[in-house]
Amino acid sequence: MLHRRWFPEHLEGETVVLRRHTRENLADFQRWYADPEVARLTRYQDGPMRPEEIERFFLMRAIGPDALAMGIHVKASNRLIGSCAFSQFDGDNGSALFHITIGEHDCWGKGYGGEATELMVDHAFSALNLHRVALTVFAFNERAIRAYARVGFVDEGRAREAIWRDGKWWDEIHMSILEPEWRARRWQERAAADGRASITRRA
Ligand SMILES: CC(C)(COP(=O)(O)OP(=O)(O)OC[C@H]1O[C@@H](n2cnc3c(N)ncnc32)[C@H](O)[C@@H]1OP(=O)(O)O)[C@@H](O)C(=O)NCCC(=O)NCCS
Repeated sequence: MLHRRWFPEHLEGETVVLRRHTRENLADFQRWYADPEVARLTRYQDGPMRPEEIERFFLMRAIGPDALAMGIHVKASNRLIGSCAFSQFDGDNGSALFHITIGEHDCWGKGYGGEATELMVDHAFSALNLHRVALTVFAFNERAIRAYARVGFVDEGRAREAIWRDGKWWDEIHMSILEPEWRARRWQERAAADGRASITRRA
């Protein structure tokens, strides 16, 4: 199975751990994707998916043999709060499309999504040898855009007025991060950490 080779059992950050999905996660998927606010932020269609659509989506995209998906767990409690995944994996051109949904509202804006995105991007460039990770996001989803920008995704264009939502047209923004950009950020972070360490040593 592709994902067994591609993803370890878990990817661990400071506040979240990404773990492979298990069948038991379906009940949470059913709750998250039946939520009108999650649908508003993530779906091209108006309104949430039906239960049978959610189950099909889960079976194919979360635990299917070709799924490149991980559950997002809060590290301190192991609570499952969402899911993230790659799709449209293109080995010839070294690229993939990234998706993320934190389904639990009380976990929005706490840094979990940004950290999960960073773990997946790190994995894409350090272990999967990808060159490019891309994503799309609706222009009104400011929280998502800020989280992606913090990880290093840059705006690379937009599909103009591609989404009809809340009674008006919105652009769909295309963002991406390239491997050399990711490497430069890692280098800067390491240099900053080394600088802090040498200041502490001197003090
Ligand atoms: C998008 C998502 C993954 C982001 O994860 P998150 O944990 O909520 O985001 P983070 O806390 O890591 O970062 C959020 C950023 O937006 C800011 N923010 C938080 N709430 C905000 C709001 N209501 N409006 C604008 N910005 C907001 C935060 O300050 C932070 O920016 P900063 O790092 O510059 O301070 C998550 O909110 C989610 O899954 N939402 C529902 C589904 C969805 O929108 N999926 C994405 C589809 S493309």
